[in-house]
Amino acid sequence: MTEYIFKGKTIALGVSGGIAAYKAVDLASELTQAGATVKIIMSENAVKFVSPITFQSITCQPVITDLFASNPQGRIYHISISEEADVIVIAPATANILAKAACGIADDTLSTTIVATRSAVVMIPAMNNYMWLNKATQHNLETLRERGIHIIEPEVGRLACGEEEAIGRFPKTETIIDYLKNLLTVVRGLEGKTILVTAGGTHEPIDPVRFIGNRSSGKMGYAIAEAAEARGGDVVLISGPTCLRPPYGIKVVNVETARQMKQAVLDYLPQADAVIMAAAIADFRPSEESVEKIKKEKMPKSLGLGLNPDILQMVSEKEGRRIVVGFAAESENIIESAVEKLKKKNLDLIVANNIGKPGVGFGSDLNLAILIDRSGPMGDLKTYRKSDLAGRIMDWLVGALKRDAAD
Ligand SMILES: Cc1cc2nc3c(=O)[nH]c(=O)nc-3n(C[C@H](O)[C@H](O)[C@H](O)COP(=O)(O)O)c2cc1C
Repeated sequence: MTEYIFKGKTIALGVSGGIAAYKAVDLASELTQAGATVKIIMSENAVKFVSPITFQSITCQPVITDLFASNPQGRIYHISISEEADVIVIAPATANILAKAACGIADDTLSTTIVATRSAVVMIPAMNNYMWLNKATQHNLETLRERGIHIIEPEVGRLACGEEEAIGRFPKTETIIDYLKNLLTVVRGLEGKTILVTAGGTHEPIDPVRFIGNRSSGKMGYAIAEAAEARGGDVVLISGPTCLRPPYGIKVVNVETARQMKQAVLDYLPQADAVIMAAAIADFRPSEESVEKIKKEKMPKSLGLGLNPDILQMVSEKEGRRIVVGFAAESENIIESAVEKLKKKNLDLIVANNIGKPGVGFGSDLNLAILIDRSGPMGDLKTYRKSDLAGRIMDWLVGALKRDAAD
């Protein structure tokens, strides 16, 4: 955990009355251990799920449940906390508190704090899948997002109400911590900069049904787009087909094939200050694409292949100064191969991934990676959460853009 980000920060953790209230205990504990002062506000119904004494013991802070209570200086709690907090996190957020916040209702200490604050508010809903999908809940979420409230969406999985595979699960503590790390990142530094990010794999059609593809999930590119946005950049995300939700507040251009990705990159390149090419673009495509579905009995015995454009090479050769970051997915001679690619393609930074180890790389939330710039490798190959690695790439980019401006 990047502890320095949380040291000296005050996080108001609002707990509402959902079954996932017990998971907020782990979140409070992790944030406290990371150096944050965590002030808990509980709704009357939250107290029915977890005792305030649990939170008090973990955070070593008084737990606020009463709207009319005052702090030791005689200040009303909801005003003092809403001023002190760097961020207010509502976890779990019930359908009820989402509705109250969307309407500006302030009838208890938690809802009143949300109305009173000027700090960032992050809501982490968790509920039964039908409550989540309810049109009123979705409408309230839209209203909150439009007002700049951050929403960390629930995960799909087993729900307390017995559903085996449904949306509504409270996210993992690490996911929340990563999100808060990005939000609280002191170094912003990408304001006024346009960052072009490519993500996902490409689908190269054989016919309208079949295609050649690869295992890229798009997670790395999406994490980079989010980290760039968190640092104030104007982000354009060019995405191949993925199962990921479009990140909120980021312009997403959806493409399918390598040639479409090339065109989209060319369209947005002139305005880009930096290009991060995280997409796994298929090197080959079928040399012929059938307009009609090929019947099984007419399927050719072998598939002719043609080379796709090398978009990374093309970007680094285009006129105009911009920072270009590439990725190298390798299973052997990781660093040597990546250094060679960095030089050959004239990149500013290359992120070398070891894809030969189980549990990391394609589809996983983890990457075994190392950053290498023109002065050489930075540190050793290490396992990172993709969001953490994205943050490091963005920290490097902020520095590189500053150095460029000074030259
Ligand atoms: C056992 C139980 C579990 C509940 N779990 C959830 C939940 O996970 N999410 C949710 O939105 N509401 C849940 N509810 C409903 C809320 O407790 C209810 O809407 C309440 O009014 C929320 O109050 P609050 O938002 O002021 O805390 C649950 C209710 C019960 C009885």
